Amino acid sequence: MTDTLILGATGTTGSELVRRLAAKGVRALRATHRRPVHADDVQLDLASGSGVREAFATARRSFLMCPPGFTNQDVLLGRAIEAAREARHERVVLMSAMGADADPSAPLRKAELALERSGLPFAILRPNWFMQNFHTFWLHSIRTQGRIQLPVGTAKGSFLDARDTAACAAELLAGAAPLGSAWDLTGPEALDHDAVAALLTRACGRPIQYEDISPEAARAGLLAAGLPPDYAEFLLLILSFFKAGYSARVTDSVLRLSGRAPTTFEQYALDHRQFWA
Ligand SMILES: NC(=O)c1ccc[n+]([C@@H]2O[C@H](COP(=O)([O-])OP(=O)(O)OC[C@H]3O[C@@H](n4cnc5c(N)ncnc54)[C@H](OP(=O)(O)O)[C@@H]3O)[C@@H](O)[C@H]2O)c1
Repeated sequence: MTDTLILGATGTTGSELVRRLAAKGVRALRATHRRPVHADDVQLDLASGSGVREAFATARRSFLMCPPGFTNQDVLLGRAIEAAREARHERVVLMSAMGADADPSAPLRKAELALERSGLPFAILRPNWFMQNFHTFWLHSIRTQGRIQLPVGTAKGSFLDARDTAACAAELLAGAAPLGSAWDLTGPEALDHDAVAALLTRACGRPIQYEDISPEAARAGLLAAGLPPDYAEFLLLILSFFKAGYSARVTDSVLRLSGRAPTTFEQYALDHRQFWA
């Protein structure tokens, strides 16, 4: 099996993908923009472009993702797509986001279109909101106040466990899953944030509540947490799509791609309960 370059290999999805590929006997080259510490680490910086061509030239397959914090995802991913094209990669899997295809001018959609038009054998994964956000992005107010504070009303989301995205990507990169398509990935059911809070409470044994906050309060919180203003606005925009109901759809893509039913929120909460206790 040929080497596979994993962007975001130290992150939530990429680290799980590296583990799953190793279990299939596939050597993963782990991209990082920091100083390499492991023999399989490859240094590249998607923001500046440094090391990108060289890194892709060492592999035959690749997993592409854009780090959070950037609103010019088309530029960062464009560098990766061009490098994969130059290196004639035989399989390229892009992690986009559910809903990205709703607007042709959205940067993630532009990246999807660039990959589709590149001539590369590709697949696009469009995950819904990650369950993992509850122990990363949204963790601070849960820890300090026992509250999930978001401007999304009573809308439901079919939250997805990022481990399931990794399982689907592993099948597309190393298995027999067919290329040439885009897949909307969701969890098994749509839940509102009161239901999420109840599941977190049950898993960790500490009372956690949902508080519906205004977009202005959310903006103040995101900026106070140090997010760049343009990325805070991007998050508020996609949270408004959540509130409008666009994140509630449930698909069978995880089962079809990975062969296993998607992880329930209850299971995710049990597996990560130490974060909220
Ligand atoms: N969170 C959600 O609900 C959600 C939903 C749908 C789609 N998504 C997509 O998923 C992405 C996040 O995926 P994730 O949560 O798995 O990632 P993550 O855990 O946030 O990790 C980010 C990764 O990006 C790498 N990175 C940071 N700056 C970089 C740079 N300049 N050049 C190259 N690599 C860099 C980091 O590695 P080093 O620091 O080692 O370089 C790290 O491995 C989002 O940006 C979005 O596109 C997220």
